[in-house]
Amino acid sequence: MTSRLPGFYRLPMQERRNLIAESVGLSTSDRSALANENPLGTAQADLMIENAVGIFSLPYGVAVNFLVNGRDYLVPMVTEEPSIVAAASYAARLIRDSGGIEAEADPSLMTGQIHVIDLPDAETAAARLEQAAPRLVQEARALQPRMTARGCGARAITATVLPDGTLLVHLEADVGDAMGANAVNTLVEAMAPHVVDVTGGTANIRIVSNLADRRLARAGATVPQHLLRTRERTGDDVAHRIARACDLAAQSPHRAATHNKGIMNGIDSIALATGQDWRAIEAGAHAYAAQDGSYQPLATWRHTDDCLHGRIEIPLAVGTVGARISSNPRAGLSLRLLGVSGARELAAVMAAVGLAQNLAALRALADEGIQRGHMALHQRTDDHQRTDDHQRTDDHPPTAPAPAPPRPPRAPS
Ligand code: MEV
Repeated sequence: MTSRLPGFYRLPMQERRNLIAESVGLSTSDRSALANENPLGTAQADLMIENAVGIFSLPYGVAVNFLVNGRDYLVPMVTEEPSIVAAASYAARLIRDSGGIEAEADPSLMTGQIHVIDLPDAETAAARLEQAAPRLVQEARALQPRMTARGCGARAITATVLPDGTLLVHLEADVGDAMGANAVNTLVEAMAPHVVDVTGGTANIRIVSNLADRRLARAGATVPQHLLRTRERTGDDVAHRIARACDLAAQSPHRAATHNKGIMNGIDSIALATGQDWRAIEAGAHAYAAQDGSYQPLATWRHTDDCLHGRIEIPLAVGTVGARISSNPRAGLSLRLLGVSGARELAAVMAAVGLAQNLAALRALADEGIQRGHMALHQRTDDHQRTDDHQRTDDHPPTAPAPAPPRPPRAPS
């Protein structure tokens, strides 16, 4: 299977669907689910949330050209923003031509928190908890025998005395291919009385932490500078300007927020397509970006040895099993389309797409600016027709940019 599908953007939608289905070998039922105009259905929506009155739809696209760890991926993306899918496909093509993206993800360790309050002596409580930790971990594992049998379940329990004299207990568990919030919430609620038996005091909040910093995904890529050449600038100049833009993001939280927003354009689009809790992903990403006390870019590009070297590290609490996925037919379909074997592979691919999305944004910003391509795609939406610019970003390195399209009447969001 190759994700290199030149001219994919030019095909009518039905032909795009057929090509994707053929490429990844989708089943007949997945093919018809892909074509279904109303894949969720109101009955299902009514089961998923309260007070449902209908269904809200978003465009479902597929980014091409992704080569991650030597494997081709067709990447399902759900987004309302023009240019995201084209930009991801364009950057993936650039990186593909220089060997692709290397990506990996940690085991699926999630942290649950139990806050113990009303303690006369938190230091003593912490010492007691430390002593009882091996037994408490065994008790936690016994509470979730199915997870434990799969090689997952509780791994560690630790305590920290907080400045206000309360005790924060962290319970760490491997949640396997699940996103894990439910499993961890069940665990901390069940374990809180056992913890209080040891520490004294009372258990207040018991909940998963969305700063999934034990569950990081990383990706890296190298792009020779000559591939970045444009009509107006040498590759050396573009690479230099991209690296300076990353330095700026490291020094200005106002820029870092926008830099990271561009990364999340890619990551959230896959999160939506595969039925993830994208609020959890967003919360974790931004908390991680700020964890050293200043808000930092999640991905950076260095310019050395005539190449750009990019790297991203981001917490990604994502799952390939669970109610959120099984309740939405498109989520399962997206996972089959992507062809990932589990949560770690999904996280690695998402990090890779975030890195590519960042490169596409920085390359445009370092050269002609974001508006021309963006505006062209907005205009395409307005006019219901394709533009040369779309063709350029989807398929061809912009060594010879098309002339700027006429300015549309309204500014993009
Ligand atoms: C727009 O959705 C995303 C960008 O602003 C990202 C960036 O500035 O790096 C283009």
